[in-house]
Amino acid sequence: MLIKTQAAIKESAVTDYALYQRRRDFLKIAGVALTGTVLPSIAPAGLQLPGYQPDPDSALKNQLTEAIKVTSYNNFYELGTGKDDPLKNAAKLKTEPWAITVEGECERPGVLAIEDLLAKFDLQERIYRLRCVEAWSMVIPWIGIELGQVLKRFQPTSKAKYVEFVTLMDPDNLPGQRRAVLDWPYREGLRMDEAMHPLSLLAVGLYGEVLPNQNGAPVRLVVPWKYGFKSIKSIVAIRFHEQQPATSWNVSAPREYGFYANVNPLVDHPRWSQARERKIGHLRKTQTLMFNGYAEQVAELYAGMDLRRQF
Ligand code: MTE
Repeated sequence: MLIKTQAAIKESAVTDYALYQRRRDFLKIAGVALTGTVLPSIAPAGLQLPGYQPDPDSALKNQLTEAIKVTSYNNFYELGTGKDDPLKNAAKLKTEPWAITVEGECERPGVLAIEDLLAKFDLQERIYRLRCVEAWSMVIPWIGIELGQVLKRFQPTSKAKYVEFVTLMDPDNLPGQRRAVLDWPYREGLRMDEAMHPLSLLAVGLYGEVLPNQNGAPVRLVVPWKYGFKSIKSIVAIRFHEQQPATSWNVSAPREYGFYANVNPLVDHPRWSQARERKIGHLRKTQTLMFNGYAEQVAELYAGMDLRRQF
């Protein structure tokens, strides 16, 4: 991943959760659709969130990254490699119509239109830390569906050991795909048990609103215990596999980006330390936590593995 020096960001740039919640309650009472109203973003015009279960997690509630940072400081190479390119080029991502093809080792392959995804599954808010491999992090109130619930509908067979995710390929519109920065389309993968873990989320919104294009509209993955590059954006295909699938960053730099990419402060990137991180909106660095703070929930998935070798 290209590394840029990040300009210092003000300590005060943290949104207060109570304020966010009060504003949401007010909008609900006023009958305003929570779409395209708060975020400085280009969000898909036709989509609306049908309502969701708020996240009761109190530990991260007061640590939310300011919404404007979440939607203007992004990694989305299809829209450019600069952190501000995805917002600038957001309108170039065409999200309507949108459907996800689900195929491979499953009994019921099919195509899932984004409208059906929103209508047929329960949406939940999940406040997660997202730790980028570039040693910065954010805390984001995502809205989405447990990935496992969606995958189950397609009845993966006993041969399905891995699941692959693929981003839209559209070089006519996506400027980044006209340059060979990565092996396009962007691809990611999880082991089946990782994909079925209740923390793995298919996100369709953030901060109470439909996902803005620069954050991976209309649907992206969020796997909070892994480095951010695993959280693939703008997904058009999901494939069940018997063998471990190739993934874009691993293909481009195998020594730097492993298949697992679990957040691990003990295993440095070959070119920099992963022991500390800068929370966006804070000046001081803090210690990075094993599995990004989710060790209690996910460590058992990796019991017996050598995490230095399988990084
Ligand atoms: N997905 C696609 N399709 N293309 C990308 O370039 N970047 C990844 C991930 N998903 C990327 C992607 C990286 S490196 C990170 S850190 C996160 O998206 C950033 O998500 P955010 O911009 O919503 O914070």
